[in-house]
Amino acid sequence: MSEAKKLFLKTYGCQMNVYDSERMAEAMGAEGYVLTEVAEEADMVLLNTCHIREKASEKLYSDLGRLKPLKLAKPDLKIGVAGCVAQAEGAEILRRMPLVDLVVGPQAYHRLPEMARSPGQVVDTEFPPEDKFDHLPARKTNRGPTAFLTVQEGCDKFCTFCVVPYTRGSEVSRPVARLLAEAQDLVARGVREITLLGQNVNAFHGEGPEGGAWTLGRLIRALDEIPGLERIRYTTSHPNDMDDDLIAAHGDAASLMPYLHLPVQSGSDRILRAMNRRHTANSYLRLVDRIRAARPDILLTSDFIVGFPGETDADFEATLDLVRAVGYGAAFSFKYSARPGTPAAEKPPVPAEVADARLQALQALITAQQHAAQKAMVGRRVGVLYEKPGRLPGQMVGKSDHLMAVHVDDPQGQVGDLVQVEVIASSTNSLAARRLPG
Ligand code: 5AD
Ligand code: SF4
Repeated sequence: MSEAKKLFLKTYGCQMNVYDSERMAEAMGAEGYVLTEVAEEADMVLLNTCHIREKASEKLYSDLGRLKPLKLAKPDLKIGVAGCVAQAEGAEILRRMPLVDLVVGPQAYHRLPEMARSPGQVVDTEFPPEDKFDHLPARKTNRGPTAFLTVQEGCDKFCTFCVVPYTRGSEVSRPVARLLAEAQDLVARGVREITLLGQNVNAFHGEGPEGGAWTLGRLIRALDEIPGLERIRYTTSHPNDMDDDLIAAHGDAASLMPYLHLPVQSGSDRILRAMNRRHTANSYLRLVDRIRAARPDILLTSDFIVGFPGETDADFEATLDLVRAVGYGAAFSFKYSARPGTPAAEKPPVPAEVADARLQALQALITAQQHAAQKAMVGRRVGVLYEKPGRLPGQMVGKSDHLMAVHVDDPQGQVGDLVQVEVIASSTNSLAARRLPG
């Protein structure tokens, strides 16, 4: 038998890309490729790209530039670009970087093996009518106690700064029967926590087994019935799609974790309108109240954009006020990055130094809230799912119910154990805890 071919796969960006990369690795595995961590020994290099901010796509071109000597030394090396830059730029990538052999958009991954066999340069950025997951091999690899499961893709919201509706296309939900079968299969292979993924996950409306659409709340309640599936999470949600049933599920679905990523982007109604968010700061705050009424200990996280075109000091102050009013467990904040083809990119930008200063101020406030949220856990009893051994002997590392990293001294602990602990200390980015008996 000839030696296995080697695939070097680099993933940029969001969790959806992480999930897609796993599925592509499996599709290429069926072609005889094994993964390598070393680009120099690869027969194929595949970069799964992100287009959400300018920096993310510039990184792709500098990484491609660095592959030039490899390609010169090994002309048979296949270089592929997948993901959202592939979708957005298509054949333009081949023009700018002739060393690239294939460009494959996120909806065409089932065609990757065929494209890799093809001798010339190929581009596929089609949105085929069928579900790409029907054509990708089922997952065989065992990847520890946590897994992602893509339940919907794409977005119809058209926030004026965002490329997702263009790169991932309009909102498509996967059928419920497939999702339940995939979840059961994951659990049979040792998975105890599933994170449901979608660019607009709570807009989920997958076809139910008896016809008719299911909401995300209904899907979560069905998953909650699967024995052995201990934890459910979902991301990323739009505030306007948090319906009553989904909110109620946070109170009564036992395996739905007390954690919710709920991006708000800005606290200024003027800016929210310009972003086409279709909610106000006040409607968001009322929503947060309803969610907390259903699940008082829920930890909220968010995304923010500072320096959106037209953002004044007063608008930015309104964002800080909203952050103070909510009290987040963590949040991502980004400087606005103009994406060609989006409506906001036509507007005059805020000066870079103003945006920088706002980013720093917002991040300082969020970091303080994160530390406060971690400190508030000290003395509390929480569940932890062990994901890997820690750096110290006898130590295990996992995530708490609230998705905080936790270190536990537990020489008997095994990866995949779901244990009860008492939090004893909080450091910059993690908690230390003591395992409780039982
Ligand atoms: N500039 C800056 N941040 C952006 N995001 C999306 N598009 C842009 C952009 N053009 C941020 C939003 C979103 C997160 C995934 O990325 O905050 O919620
Ligand atoms: Fe982008 Fe999210 Fe807005 Fe959709 S809802 S356009 S993915 S920011």
